[in-house]
Amino acid sequence: MGTLFRNGTVITASDMLKADVLVEGEVVTLIGLELDAAGHEVVDCDGMYLMPGGIDVHTHLELPFGGTVSNDDFDTGHRALAFGGSTSHIDFVVQPIGGSLHDGLETWRAKSAHLAQVDYGFHMAVTDLRDEVMEEIPSLLDEGITSLKLFMAYKNVFQIDDTTLFRAMQVAAQQGMIVMVHAENGDVEAELTPRLLAEGKVEPKYHASSRPPEIEGEATNRAVVMAGLAGCPLYVVHVTTRAAVEAIQRGRALGYPVMGESCTQYFFLTVDDHLAMPGFEGAKFICSPPIRSDADHRVLWQAIRDGSLQHVSTDHCNFWYKGGVGPWQEWAAAHDNSEWVDYEAQDPSYRRPGKELGLGNFAKIPNGMPGLEERMMVMWQHGVNSGRISPTRFVELMCSNPAKIFGMYPKKGTIAVGSDADIAIWDPNEEHVLSVETTHMRTDYIVYEGMPIRGRPRQVWLRGRKIVDGDNWLGRNADGRFIARRPGAPVL
Ligand code: URP
Ligand code: ZN
Ligand code: ZN
Repeated sequence: MGTLFRNGTVITASDMLKADVLVEGEVVTLIGLELDAAGHEVVDCDGMYLMPGGIDVHTHLELPFGGTVSNDDFDTGHRALAFGGSTSHIDFVVQPIGGSLHDGLETWRAKSAHLAQVDYGFHMAVTDLRDEVMEEIPSLLDEGITSLKLFMAYKNVFQIDDTTLFRAMQVAAQQGMIVMVHAENGDVEAELTPRLLAEGKVEPKYHASSRPPEIEGEATNRAVVMAGLAGCPLYVVHVTTRAAVEAIQRGRALGYPVMGESCTQYFFLTVDDHLAMPGFEGAKFICSPPIRSDADHRVLWQAIRDGSLQHVSTDHCNFWYKGGVGPWQEWAAAHDNSEWVDYEAQDPSYRRPGKELGLGNFAKIPNGMPGLEERMMVMWQHGVNSGRISPTRFVELMCSNPAKIFGMYPKKGTIAVGSDADIAIWDPNEEHVLSVETTHMRTDYIVYEGMPIRGRPRQVWLRGRKIVDGDNWLGRNADGRFIARRPGAPVL
């Protein structure tokens, strides 16, 4: 017996058409008109859109960062993804300094396998490219990892130098892998920040002054040129500003294999309206690169329309606004970083440290914000409902392109015969106001508080099994599966 999704409108990256979809086992087996329902469970999709489950290729679940650990783990993060209409994501393993890539991988496997509720893959963030680590890179392909991430920022934490980046690109090119970069000039930021602090400029809004658009544009251009020379597919993460978009456009015009994404927050939030809010409120909106201006928003909308950027992710990396509650110092002294969930489980009021770490010093505010649950709804509202992008372009950006670029298409990212039956039944008329009160993320704020949206997932199916039904959670821990990705993915 299969499941027949009847009378819906199927949206893929190329088409939007009325059709029935038959799912047997974990995959789609037939798409057609008035399919025979005999022997199948029927799901009435009249008035609904059937979209492939969303894919977010930029998340940081349980990431040790900024003196604490990001809140959502592979349990809460996965539920929130699914409630928002996504069924897969790719998280970043971080190589420990002095350790191997496989050391990092073991850590991320231990965090994820027993909790996972949706499907997930890993990128490998390379922080310490010693000779033996360089030799280790090809073995990542045996683990289903085809993407390397390098940080050109966060000096003395994750930042690598140009030699490392160029070497990584050369190995990646040989192996059919893709290199991702966080493109900001970390050396310049490391000069600007102490200067601002010395001038008494300590409030959250000065985070933006410490990381001006120029340092993003410069680093993006550097990475694009190196990728062109190395012949290495490059994917620039969280592009926020005109200079970075133009660097990618120039590279593409020269035939370099370069692509990029932006993240939901960079289409909406501004320094003036959010980062510069009174008191410490601006800390909620601190991420790197910083949120920018309305003019940058317009550039980004144009870039996702004209194909200069290929995906909209979230860079979900959330920290409590009011964290550090309870006897956390004693706990931290007695436990390692990975046990904050246990700390919070002791007492519902307990919280690991969060944004308050940077009271009186913007440079100590953990960088990152929540967003993986709202991504599809916010981009549907402001992209599709506002007429900026079509429904098919929406699916391309949010589902198909990320699957193609990162080697998991057509298993993921589309509704086609043979694809995994990852399906969001999307009600285009359902209205909702986004709020922290109704979010499934582990957070005490959301950055889209009060935003009205029309269009949200009614049901979400993962490999043929319903995991979200309205407000009800039907998923199970450890049912999410690791996605082993293939090298040699196309450059879009
Ligand atoms: O502020 C951010 N973006 N935090 C997460 C780490 C990163 O740079 O992606
Ligand atoms: Zn980054
Ligand atoms: Zn990130």
